[in-house]
Amino acid sequence: MCGIVGIASTKSVTSMIVNSLRKLEYRGYDSSGIATLHNGNINEVKCEGRVDVLEKNLNKSNLLGNVGIGHVRWATHGIPSTLNAHPHSSENVSVVHNGIIENSTLLKKLLIKKGHTFKSQTDTEVITHLITEYLKKNDLKNSIIKMLRRLHGSFALGIIFKDQPDLIVGARRGSPLAVGYGPNENYLGSDSYALKSMTNKISYLNDGEFCIVKNDNIDFFDETGNKVNKKILELSSNEKNYDKGEYKHFMAKEIDEQPVTIKNCINEYIDKKNNDINIFNFPWESKDISSIVLIGCGTAYHSCLMAKYWFEQLTKFDVSVDIASEFRYRKNRFKDNALYIFVSQSGETADTYGALDLCNKNDMKTCSIVNVVESSIARDSKFVLPIHCGPEIGVASTKAFTGQMLVLYLLCLKLGKDRKDIANDIFSKKIISLKSLSDLIKNTLSTENDIQLVCNSFVEAKGSMFLGRGCSFPIALEGALKLKELAYVHAEGYPAGEMKHGPLALIEEGMPVVVLAPRDDYYKKTISNMQEVIARGAKVLLITNKSKDEVYSENIWQTIEVENTSEDLLPFLITIPLQKLAYYSALKKGYDIDKPRNLAKSVTVE
Ligand code: F6R
Repeated sequence: MCGIVGIASTKSVTSMIVNSLRKLEYRGYDSSGIATLHNGNINEVKCEGRVDVLEKNLNKSNLLGNVGIGHVRWATHGIPSTLNAHPHSSENVSVVHNGIIENSTLLKKLLIKKGHTFKSQTDTEVITHLITEYLKKNDLKNSIIKMLRRLHGSFALGIIFKDQPDLIVGARRGSPLAVGYGPNENYLGSDSYALKSMTNKISYLNDGEFCIVKNDNIDFFDETGNKVNKKILELSSNEKNYDKGEYKHFMAKEIDEQPVTIKNCINEYIDKKNNDINIFNFPWESKDISSIVLIGCGTAYHSCLMAKYWFEQLTKFDVSVDIASEFRYRKNRFKDNALYIFVSQSGETADTYGALDLCNKNDMKTCSIVNVVESSIARDSKFVLPIHCGPEIGVASTKAFTGQMLVLYLLCLKLGKDRKDIANDIFSKKIISLKSLSDLIKNTLSTENDIQLVCNSFVEAKGSMFLGRGCSFPIALEGALKLKELAYVHAEGYPAGEMKHGPLALIEEGMPVVVLAPRDDYYKKTISNMQEVIARGAKVLLITNKSKDEVYSENIWQTIEVENTSEDLLPFLITIPLQKLAYYSALKKGYDIDKPRNLAKSVTVE
């Protein structure tokens, strides 16, 4: 999961590449580099570290050229270092790569036998040498076709050639690649966002395709070298969404945007006049679906888990949930009457895409819930439900999580009503209560003052736990994930009822434990579990909803009350303080909140 960019222009490209790389830093930021063609030579500058470091190095070296490629890396093969940073160049070609070449060890051995010398520990360098080798006896196009046939794994590539001063080759298998059309210049990029400041006219390469990009023309080819025609899409541009505004971090802005993103999504799907849900052109009859399989990774997996509770409470569907990286390699028994739902913010997550691809190949009903509607997962699913929450830039997913939950909830209500699992009057009540969700989230955001007071204890702790039952269990997992990834504090999410089967042994004097106990059917049981951890010395932060009934328990360290609403919607509200807890804990520690260590926003490798 790296970011690649390429520009073929009539003017110098270095600073444009740097600007695009900044936008791609969400995909990786442990090293970066650029190569350009100038006066018949390939020149490169690369370094360990972020694009800021690269820019300083570029200022010293004055890299000229009208054709160039750039890269931001998230290390897979080889440590983050200048030597392992892309581009990887021979005398004749220079390559940037996103993905993994699975047969690189074997190819490397064969190429060393042919006299090639390797400088880095990366899998990418085999691509450089492989093309160099093929170019000895083949023209450019045939060298590319032959090279692509030898590679196993997933990749998106950008390649420049010493002897072809006006062009860049782009190729895709598995990892995404967009091309952009500009005035007197054309572009390659890992996504349209990287190209946004230069163009909104975009095409996407499909799996197996490659392209030749020049400043005045782009040709597309399939894997056998036959020309392919491409549609040019015009993307809407809303640059404001890509700006932090007055916020210190995108994450803070994105948490606070949730009243608006939830409202937008409700406006898109809810027919307020008729108290109905609009999901137009859904390609299947609800009576033809008997089971639902929800698939995602990380936070998206948590929203799938959440949806299982709703589907089971409100409908008669048989529901299962899977982590994409597990699903895709298990011996699955596909069922004709199952609906497979893929949840992904980016729509590019390699494992989720792999699971979708597998279902498509088995001719299953596939539906995706995505934020990025131009993404590979959206394009390759048979039906798409967007979450309408605008670009999410912070690596930790926040507004996309609540957006995914909302769309899953709406789908559950719609299918449940169609099948008559949900009676019309109950359905209408649920729609009415949804209309106030945005305001309730807005009010709940004010719990941040209380959160700021408690986060010291989490920051200083050697570990923490997040407990919940029923619908609060997926939220406990999500709260723990947020704290881990941002504040680097060990945090475990657990079903509160499971504690006595082992994890209770972890509780020691002063350990911070978040207990999620909204007043739902599980409330009393969770409060009992809370008492068990308090009795063993835990410092409990209880998150519940406002109620006229006092919480009956002694020795609770702190209590945060979210707004009151229907049981179905409480998970949205108890999520908010957990997002804030992770944010303020990371802020206290002075960490890079939008780009936590070792992570990247879009996980396009397995
Ligand atoms: C956590 C987080 C990740 C993503 C996961 C899936 O805050 O952001 O766990 O949720 O990598 O990403 P998408 O949703 O893009 O498929």
